[in-house]
Amino acid sequence: MQSGFSGKAMTYEEARGALAEIGQDQVFAFWDKLNASEREALLAQVSRIAWSDVAMLRRVLADEAAAKSTAANAAAGASAEDMEPAPVLELSGDGRAAAAAAGENELRGGRVAALVVAGGQGSRLGFDGPKGCYPVGPVSNAPLFAFHARKLLALRNAFGAPVPFYVMTSETNDRATREFFRENAYFGLPERDVFFFVQGMWPALTPEGKVLLDAPGHIFTAPDGHGGTLSALERSGALADMEKRGIRTVFYFQVDNPMVDVCDPAFIGEHVRRGADVSIKVCAKRDAQEGLGVPVSENGRIRIVEYTEFTDEQKNERAPDGRLRFLYGSVAIHAFSTAFLRREAGAGLPVHVAHKKVPHVDESGALVKPSSPNACKFEKFIFDSLLDAKTAICVAFDREEEFSPVKNAEGSDSPATCRADLSRKWARWLRAADVKIEMDAAGYPTRRVEIDPAYARDAESLARALAGNPGAVPAEGDIWLKA
Ligand code: UTP
Repeated sequence: MQSGFSGKAMTYEEARGALAEIGQDQVFAFWDKLNASEREALLAQVSRIAWSDVAMLRRVLADEAAAKSTAANAAAGASAEDMEPAPVLELSGDGRAAAAAAGENELRGGRVAALVVAGGQGSRLGFDGPKGCYPVGPVSNAPLFAFHARKLLALRNAFGAPVPFYVMTSETNDRATREFFRENAYFGLPERDVFFFVQGMWPALTPEGKVLLDAPGHIFTAPDGHGGTLSALERSGALADMEKRGIRTVFYFQVDNPMVDVCDPAFIGEHVRRGADVSIKVCAKRDAQEGLGVPVSENGRIRIVEYTEFTDEQKNERAPDGRLRFLYGSVAIHAFSTAFLRREAGAGLPVHVAHKKVPHVDESGALVKPSSPNACKFEKFIFDSLLDAKTAICVAFDREEEFSPVKNAEGSDSPATCRADLSRKWARWLRAADVKIEMDAAGYPTRRVEIDPAYARDAESLARALAGNPGAVPAEGDIWLKA
């Protein structure tokens, strides 16, 4: 059962009584000052919260032993000698062709789905709205969601079968996300092939295990992490929908990377050929300090270790060929078998605890923004499911082609770097199709370039499209090729 209170609407007396029993009736401290709609909203929120989870989070907080069982702590305890870099497949030549053929076969058979996690808060970017609505197209200003959806449209057109799109939102951005898709006519996808599902929210806890109010009639909650995907898939019916459609492989990715090669046939094919539960795309880290999780092999199992858990010495260690020993990082592009997702739906992932500054109201109801951490937030990480995978593989990819996330408002991994990387990639595709594009000294095109994924989903399909329409690229000014 998801909620200790079974998710049903409760009267004030029932709710207050139930929360008093678990020592959380401070939630009603301002009840007398709330108007009717605020009261209704608070009661609804109390019914929605999974109080059985809150009890578990209190145990995580209070119980040293439980805390030690989290993946993070287990990893921190692992010594350097225990950790080996996980084996990484570098697909090329005939092996890549065979994998791509197998993946295309899966796509043709309609056995592949895409899943984007878009429930995060985007706090570093500081954008007012779901992160997927952020405009990133260098010429069109098309939003992140458009790039993902248009790739699925391209796959549908190429392979003649739908690739259903599962979009994970949070309580905070679900409505805005659905409206955005509707306003944009689902970016050309049939509405029936887009499935929104909402991840869980967890309250933060004070060191005493109390939930906090961030307004007199509202409990502070935050999404339960991308690991919340597994339980949310089941709870929402999305997993059952996948099974009904005969989906075998789910391509999982994050909303903030418009370069991702969604449902890359070679990756899907290798995953299926190897009968993997989970496959992980990995790329060479920019440098030893880059904050990507690193896949390591331990007792024959692969898991991802966060970069914070490596010592500087480990980060800088070199292999005999001079490259970093722990060279490859994960950028959260995975393939999951549907059967594995079903097995994992009920599995409790470890809970990661972070000490954070959580805004809350004081006794007078005024909002306080603490200057130092005052509470713990809790999250599950999707990659912890690897611990349960019988077969997991890592497949290398070229980050110049597939990875440039929008994380920060400025500086590295920002909208500016992402737009530049997109333009550079599309300029490479155009040059490969014999279109002359002037590049500057840093290797970026001197004109703005954008290619709608539904116009061409890779360099080969671009060359084909241009062969049939040589006048498509204007002689000067912006280049924007769209279907
Ligand atoms: P990040 O933690 O990198 O980004 O999540 P964020 O949450 O969007 O932004 P910050 O950290 O607050 O600045 C990586 C991906 O995981 C999703 C995000 O939407 C993003 O696609 N995610 C993260 C969820 O869907 N739910 C979560 O609870 C956390």
